Amino acid sequence: MSKLIVANWKMNNSFADIQDYVKELRRQVKGDGNIVVCVPSVMLKDFSTSARGIAQAGAQNCHYAEKGAFTGEVSAKMVKDAGATYVLVGHSERRENFNEKNEFLNKKLNSALSCGLKVIFCVGEKLEEKTKYKSVLKKQIIEGFAHVKDFANIIVAYEPVWAIGTGMVATDLDIERAHKFIKSVVKEYFGAVVPVLYGGSVKPSNAKEILANPEVDGVLVGGASLNASDFASIILSR
Ligand code: 13P
Repeated sequence: MSKLIVANWKMNNSFADIQDYVKELRRQVKGDGNIVVCVPSVMLKDFSTSARGIAQAGAQNCHYAEKGAFTGEVSAKMVKDAGATYVLVGHSERRENFNEKNEFLNKKLNSALSCGLKVIFCVGEKLEEKTKYKSVLKKQIIEGFAHVKDFANIIVAYEPVWAIGTGMVATDLDIERAHKFIKSVVKEYFGAVVPVLYGGSVKPSNAKEILANPEVDGVLVGGASLNASDFASIILSR
């Protein structure tokens, strides 16, 4: 099966970009079920409709509650109804800027799974935590996956915070060590096998090497996914 290539537009691009973006993807690559674009939630309906057969739509966030007085939030079911098949949970920008803690993320993850969404659960250490990355990742995983019984719809994304948007890519060895460690913790504590994506300054010029690593089951791409040609070239690096 081909590796999973996921775009994270973050709070970028607009409705007006969707048609051209999808057109360019269709021109360059074949849809194989393993291409996902996580768009701002207001664009999910348009993107999922336009990209049918070429890419699946993912949400970048959802709330854990089914409904209620949570002004400004969207539930897992709402993003699913709007066309998302995937959702990102625990991105470092949410952990950092919105103070989302493991226990809170765990509720989101369980809510998203119960709605039938596939969850891309992001973990990663900050620069100052680099020497103790194992204890950071372990805590994120053990607390993040509490009460999860079925891992079939869970994908982990290893995104070292120091490599996000900085141009500093983790070395092959950093990636291999972290991915092996993540897989071993999930196996030891939950008895499950999960795919692990790498994210952090992935671009057309380094994608081939990163994707060639057997421990890497795919990539999560921020900046370089905003442009359809660049994203297509990453997809074609598989
Ligand atoms: P960059 O690819 O811009 O480093 O972002 C990575 C990321 O945060 C993807 O979720």
